[in-house]
Amino acid sequence: MSPRAIDPLRADIAEQAKRCEDLGELGAAARGCTACPELAAARRQVVVGDVVAGARLLIVGDAPGANEDEAGRPFVGKGGQLLDRLMADAGLDRADVSVLNVLKCRPPSNRTPTRAEAHRCTGWLDRQVELLDPHHVLTLGRTALTWALGASTTLAAVRGRVHDWRGRKLIVSYHPSAALRFGPRGEPHLALADDLRFVAAALAC
Ligand code: URA
Ligand code: SF4
Repeated sequence: MSPRAIDPLRADIAEQAKRCEDLGELGAAARGCTACPELAAARRQVVVGDVVAGARLLIVGDAPGANEDEAGRPFVGKGGQLLDRLMADAGLDRADVSVLNVLKCRPPSNRTPTRAEAHRCTGWLDRQVELLDPHHVLTLGRTALTWALGASTTLAAVRGRVHDWRGRKLIVSYHPSAALRFGPRGEPHLALADDLRFVAAALAC
């Protein structure tokens, strides 16, 4: 389905999420979501995200992988370990940061989420952003970039600066899996490290 087509399930989720008055209520509702039948049948659990009350920074990735599906937490596999290390190098403590994904369920075999799945699940994410109310949002990778700024832009066009976005500050970067793929001297790794330092400096202001 084209994400531009009206998806009644997307509208249902957005409505259900809007009715949630706190993050606990939203987490409970999302854990029962079966709007994507293929994902709901294959997942072990819904990975609602690390929500840290009062966190000034929110990081948004794409979808849980096998490790996250098992642990029930985002970014705990190899990519997550790299993210933790680069955050620590930049002076950011993950315990003080909320971490969410566009998709709450693992796509089977870690395939890329379809545009329709990603679009559908953002009803939960959009409400999580409202309830968390972070000052800064950092997106990692294509799926999260599309969520924030639409499909027609590219990372190269929007990286390296702060965007005013929904009354907050948005910074976009590469996904840690790209950093792993291209190695420590590759552009994604270097850029992600730079962007995390940039975010840390912005938060300190
Ligand atoms: N990749 C993501 O984008 N999110 C996770 O939680 C794990 C891997
Ligand atoms: Fe629901 Fe999102 Fe999971 Fe789809 S991916 S079933 S919309 S929680």
